[in-house]
Amino acid sequence: MPNILIIDDELSMREFLKVLLEKEGYRADTAANAQDALAAVEGRDYDLIISDIKMPEISGIEFLEQIRSAGLTIPVILITAYASPEDAVAAMKGGAYDYITKPFNVAEIKEIVHSALLTARNTAAQPAGETFQGIIAQSPEMLKIFDLIRRISPTHANVLIQGESGTGKELVAHAVHNLSKAADHAFVPIICNAIPENLFESEVFGHVKGSFTGAVGNKQGLFAEADGGSVFLDEVGELSPLVQTKLLRVIQEREFKPVGGSHNIKVNIRVITATNRNLEQEVIAGRFREDLFYRLSVVPIRVPPLRERKGDVPLLVDYFLKKYSRLFAKEISALSSYSMEVLMNYDFPGNVRELENIIERGVAMESSNIILPESLSIASHRQAAQSRQGSASADDDFALGLEQAVENLERRLLRKAMEQAGGSKMKAAELLKISFRSLRYKIKKYGISNEKR
Ligand SMILES: Nc1ncnc2c1ncn2[C@@H]1O[C@H](COP(=O)(O)OP(=O)(O)OP(=O)(O)O)[C@@H](O)[C@H]1O
Ligand SMILES: [Mg+2]
Repeated sequence: MPNILIIDDELSMREFLKVLLEKEGYRADTAANAQDALAAVEGRDYDLIISDIKMPEISGIEFLEQIRSAGLTIPVILITAYASPEDAVAAMKGGAYDYITKPFNVAEIKEIVHSALLTARNTAAQPAGETFQGIIAQSPEMLKIFDLIRRISPTHANVLIQGESGTGKELVAHAVHNLSKAADHAFVPIICNAIPENLFESEVFGHVKGSFTGAVGNKQGLFAEADGGSVFLDEVGELSPLVQTKLLRVIQEREFKPVGGSHNIKVNIRVITATNRNLEQEVIAGRFREDLFYRLSVVPIRVPPLRERKGDVPLLVDYFLKKYSRLFAKEISALSSYSMEVLMNYDFPGNVRELENIIERGVAMESSNIILPESLSIASHRQAAQSRQGSASADDDFALGLEQAVENLERRLLRKAMEQAGGSKMKAAELLKISFRSLRYKIKKYGISNEKR
């Protein structure tokens, strides 16, 4: 049974709310001021706090600040006077879950309390997903990959990781190495397209002093450094034909000669490669050596794009929210439900990296305690909002302001009633349970009778 704490300096209000909530099946305690409430919060685990804003000593907003700075994430609903929208803004900025306005609308209170408790329960029950070697996921597609990594890492087989940019290929490469027998040896990343072709050999295989202008000393190459461990050839699809040939030889012979050297160096290296190109197609197109492809792709791992595993989005959102809230010292613990919907409908061309950027920017920009759609830098979300006519969410309503939102609702209901009444104003008034006069006034106000239906 959820525990709710009600704070109000007015006895009648406290009692009213207590009775209302108990009838809904909640347990409710009351406190007459913020000091008592702070003591109560220390003594018991509350699932929700409902507090008046205007109280003699410590206001509801100050109370909210105090419990937030004490690190408590309990949802707080503040009660504001009907006449003060400033209070509402301050409430949301201070990290309130929501606010209710006086005079009370019982249905509204029930609704807000219900959704606050639901949200709190959902976020508390988060750790359902798996963190595998720093990779956050819960989708069946990714869990299958975790399983594959567990099985193949201890073998010495070369691994080719394919997937779009930002899907987490580098994380997968690290996981393979960390779970291998060579985990305590080096993991040496080589970003293939970052090394010019003419320097590749000397960088990767090393060189002997004096072997070319600028070779002022002996240089141990990256492959020698990786001996006993793994090399990670990132962007392997970008290698030039010449370098591909040299690489193939090293992988086949397990030895190489430094530039200008006379002796072969033997190495024991596992080769992990990654590319966001389709390497099979590169082979068909004649841009990538087929024999090298087979050597590299003994175990192929395809990391699916994020849009094919949307189930990972909520988990990743939660993870990045925590990360950036901590980093930016903010108290943002959730996305508004509409923001989440926007993300779930987005196709993430930049995959997890893009999602991370979206959340990072969102946390940086947001001034309330939940990320509203305006703080999401997704080009498509405005369109999405417009296409959702009729089912505007609470966030849309806030964006419009109360009056406009109420007007929109009124207009919609009027149209619907007129339609159902087949154009009869009498019948429409009956459906809406308003007087004929009032209906006529509203129809005129919204210009509805002039509209084509
Ligand atoms: N499942 C995940 N859990 C947590 N962080 C992730 C996950 N997937 C990707 N990331 C993060 O997203 C960013 C991009 O991941 P990564 O560098 O591994 O992608 P990539 O596939 O190598 O991309 P590219 O092809 O552009 O090099 C990194 O900051 C990484 O930490
Ligand atoms: Mg990468």
